[in-house]
Amino acid sequence: MSGIPHDHYEPKSRAEKWVESRLPVIGLIYDTLMIPTPKNLNWWWIWGIVLAFCLALQIVTGIVLVMHYTPHVDMAFASIEHIMRNVNGGHMLRYVHMNGASLFFLAVYIHIFRGLFYGSYKAPREITWIVGMLIYLMMMATAFMGYVLPWGQMSFWGATVITGLFGAIPFIGEAIQTWLLGGPAVDNATLNRFFSLHYLLPFVIAALVIVHIWAFHTTGNNNPTGVEVRRGSKDEAKKDTLPFWPYFVIKDLFALAVILVVFWGIVGFMPNYLGHPDNYIEANPLVTPAHIVPEWYFLPFYAILRAFTSDVWVVQIASFFTGGIIDAKFFGVLAMFGAILVMALVPWLDTSSVRSGRYRPSFKWWFRLLIVDFIVLMWCGAQPAEGIYGTIALIATAYWFGYFLVLLPLLGVLEKPLPQPDTIEEDFNAHYGKADGAAEATPAE
Ligand code: HEM
Repeated sequence: MSGIPHDHYEPKSRAEKWVESRLPVIGLIYDTLMIPTPKNLNWWWIWGIVLAFCLALQIVTGIVLVMHYTPHVDMAFASIEHIMRNVNGGHMLRYVHMNGASLFFLAVYIHIFRGLFYGSYKAPREITWIVGMLIYLMMMATAFMGYVLPWGQMSFWGATVITGLFGAIPFIGEAIQTWLLGGPAVDNATLNRFFSLHYLLPFVIAALVIVHIWAFHTTGNNNPTGVEVRRGSKDEAKKDTLPFWPYFVIKDLFALAVILVVFWGIVGFMPNYLGHPDNYIEANPLVTPAHIVPEWYFLPFYAILRAFTSDVWVVQIASFFTGGIIDAKFFGVLAMFGAILVMALVPWLDTSSVRSGRYRPSFKWWFRLLIVDFIVLMWCGAQPAEGIYGTIALIATAYWFGYFLVLLPLLGVLEKPLPQPDTIEEDFNAHYGKADGAAEATPAE
């Protein structure tokens, strides 16, 4: 399966040969676990496993929650209270699922920014990246619909605002919105279809994760140097890699254990810290909350959505040239989806011949600024949409687009990269010292 030469599974016993000749599943598991992995991977490479864990955690806790939840506008809120008060361990189950979503998004953002820094999206890993982006979109849809299920005030009004965005699409918007909602407004039909899709999408994500893993197992992992594993022969490849089992499995599980200590601390001691108190008030279509704020992980894109009001000149120009078809609301929607699209297109926007940000002196600074920018956008998304916050959000949005559409294409041409190591082995030895003979001896042991 992998492009990196390595030892493949050979069935030994008669039983193994019997199975393998009918369904080569033991070989598949063996090849997956023993895949040669660059031995210089740092701690930023642990988040993929954290993500896989989160997906499993959300599916398992979700399935048990469903056993006690009722997707009907008259009973949804009460059924959540019932889970919290009467179901054995129910409050724990709900808090794990609620905060599990936050851990999932924290992990995915770190995972994405890791990829952006080390150039993991560059050839030949474009498909891994694009599939990752599809996963991210699915995660957002799943989390959004999940948030509606408790049928609190934020659930209801969040759903009203976000589905309202589709209404901003010229000509067909209203029809799409009605189709999404199952009626003219957020109501029982909406709750039912959101429930159904919230249950379905995690399994679609799971399928996409398999494709994601298949893709990077085909190209081999990227690594902090961005230099590829040598593929001339098995012996050469072994100098740059270690088998995934046991080396990376143990490392990843250790990291996961540390992260889970913090996670359980939050679930146990401050489970509502990231939530909004208004969602403990049952949905009321007649009372609008003072501020409608989405969950923290949507805030950066929410800020981009709201940044474009009708007094912004680009909006005015767009509106003028399209005869008013593109108004401020539709412009905001385009900007929000555009902000994700430019990230998805990064394999083709980055023109640098050097993969890893480690060897790109100017890129490093612009990249750090991108992280600050993302945090500023997140902060803006949580503020009321008025005054200075609008201006800050606009500047931060401009940087987001400027980074992907202007800086990345230009830097690749203008920047003078630093020298890269010739091999992964060289980088590994420079960091951890050379253990003579170890590279040859360990994998075989
Ligand atoms: C459920 C969500 C996801 C899961 C379970 C997952 C899992 C993984 C795993 C296990 C790895 C290899 C090791 C590691 O880097 O930690 C990986 C690599 C990668 N992921 Fe994801 N991922 C997810 C979402 C995403 C997203 C949203 C993106 C961004 C577009 C992405 C982009 C990448 C890239 C480019 C690599 C290759 C890095 C390399 O070659 O080392 N992934 N993913």
